[in-house]
Amino acid sequence: MTQRVAIITGAGQGIGRAVAHNLAAQGVHPVLVGRTKAKLDQVAAELPMATVAAADVTDAAQVAACIKTVQDTFGCADILVNSAGEAFLADLEHTTDADWDRVLAINLKGAFLMARGLLPLLRKSENASIINIASKVALHGYGEVTAYSAAKAGLVGFTRSLAKELREEEIRVVALCPGPVDTPMRWAATPDFDRKVVISAETVAQYVSYVVNLPRGTTMSELLVESMHYD
Ligand SMILES: NC(=O)c1ccc[n+]([C@@H]2O[C@H](COP(=O)([O-])OP(=O)(O)OC[C@H]3O[C@@H](n4cnc5c(N)ncnc54)[C@H](OP(=O)(O)O)[C@@H]3O)[C@@H](O)[C@H]2O)c1
Repeated sequence: MTQRVAIITGAGQGIGRAVAHNLAAQGVHPVLVGRTKAKLDQVAAELPMATVAAADVTDAAQVAACIKTVQDTFGCADILVNSAGEAFLADLEHTTDADWDRVLAINLKGAFLMARGLLPLLRKSENASIINIASKVALHGYGEVTAYSAAKAGLVGFTRSLAKELREEEIRVVALCPGPVDTPMRWAATPDFDRKVVISAETVAQYVSYVVNLPRGTTMSELLVESMHYD
């Protein structure tokens, strides 16, 4: 069996980094994507093997360059994990046009650009997966987080439709919807958040691993994963 290749966005820290560790431990070759090359280099140094492809996933030209790196290096791709994201907390009247556009771009458009660009390479896989890290907010709704909720709900809708579109080709497309996770994003957005109600990034990575190891022709609907102490 040839070595599987996983492209992981937001891989410099948090959930993306945990996914890279988990998949690399299974012998999958991770391609680490994010804006800050130094963070990606740090994660690569922690792993037995990895390729660094710095890119802003909201920028079509940078995404194209990143995908060219994958094409030139591997010629195919097996797994895309869209974990790049940005939390944004503000009530509606304090959400500017620029905030709305940025939050939608990073949490939604980035996944679209990456999935569309990588699709020709994923088609060459024996068992391809696209996993989009959405959020519980997409399914539940919370106050003072409307732009982020809209983006993540959009990501769930994008995932459901793409899953139908790619069904005949047996490329699975699944959204994971975590509740609060112990990552730099969480503590930057909500420093006083209750530490008892977060789950670990490694737990989310285990769900990613479960999905990508399903037998070909098998898939799942979106998964909500959260602490039992969070509502
Ligand atoms: N933590 C939570 O409680 C939680 C809960 C539910 C869902 N999520 C979702 O899970 C995903 C991962 O979150 P996390 O908690 O691991 O966040 P994190 O610790 O902030 O990591 C997010 C990563 O995304 C990268 N990134 C941000 N904007 C980017 C862009 N435009 N292009 C490329 N990379 C970009 C960041 O690196 P650079 O700044 O270097 O680009 C960073 O490494 C996100 O989609 C988030 O919305 C998180």
